[in-house]
Amino acid sequence: MPTRSTTRSTPDITLAGRGLLGLAGMPAAELRGLLKASREMRRAMDDAVRIEPVLARRVVANLFFEDSTRTRTSFSVAARRLGAEVVDLMGFASSVNKGETLVDTALNVEAMGIDVLVVRARQSGAAADIARAVRCPVVNAGDGRHEHPTQGLLDTLALAIAAGREEDFDLRGLRVAIVGDVANSRVARSAIAAMTTLGARVVCVGPPGMAPAGLKAMGCEVSHDLDAVLPNLDAVMMLRIQFERHGEEGGKSDGADKRASAFASIREYRAFYALTAERARRLKPAAVVMHPGPMNRGLEIDGEVADGPRSIILAQVTCGVAVRMAVLRACVSPA
Ligand code: NCD
Repeated sequence: MPTRSTTRSTPDITLAGRGLLGLAGMPAAELRGLLKASREMRRAMDDAVRIEPVLARRVVANLFFEDSTRTRTSFSVAARRLGAEVVDLMGFASSVNKGETLVDTALNVEAMGIDVLVVRARQSGAAADIARAVRCPVVNAGDGRHEHPTQGLLDTLALAIAAGREEDFDLRGLRVAIVGDVANSRVARSAIAAMTTLGARVVCVGPPGMAPAGLKAMGCEVSHDLDAVLPNLDAVMMLRIQFERHGEEGGKSDGADKRASAFASIREYRAFYALTAERARRLKPAAVVMHPGPMNRGLEIDGEVADGPRSIILAQVTCGVAVRMAVLRACVSPA
């Protein structure tokens, strides 16, 4: 009996020899290829179709120098579903604390016979530095404020499915708002790159310090007035305030201090930029609500909106596993 396997017929796309460091500048055809491969993986998950173990006898190393629950687990689940062995190396429990550089750590891990390195780091550009030094493909799982490409892909996949655009990933005519601390968000950078390349109109919304005019250079619009853009949206993606990144550039970061002063004005922030239940009622009937997580319920988003009928937040998480399966597979498939 022939084995039913959708993963065999997925579109050809390869990341072999280069991995995935970011989505900025990626051509639309390549984005669509990755998204179509992800969509097939997503369908395979749904139908419980046998997923071909294309990563059997391969080792995927999660090299995480910064906190993560969702992303690391998602990469692990994806790698295991494709038959790979997974090694978890967390920065806080590694030799980085003994003064070893990130690149040295990565070179040592690679020397143990790793096939794909998944890297998360606090510094923008760290994944690229590591990719230059090692021979195996590197997947950026979030580097500082720079990019988080698999998150951008999963956000785009979830949006396309919700909007019925998953056949061709043509997002023209869709209007998406990314709301909150956009300036500090690698999630926003990757989502803006993917969504605008595929034709969506993206507007970044937040106070001027969080949504500065300079963001327009990425091909999006900028607004400081959520209530004005709300009625025209097809999707609204809420972001967490990245307290830990505030003040980083000025040298010593003091997250607790920043958090305290930011919370002094949290009521004001909520008044203008939170997705409250009342604001959600002013969205178009078919508009969807997104959040990359982790969420601060009652701060940037009300719990009843996060759990409400418009929310595709958990669908984003499911799409994440599909995207990471597609990306990991593309990393080891021949060019
Ligand atoms: C984000 C991240 O770490 O970049 N979370 C995620 O990966 N889903 C966003 C955040 O930390 O707010």
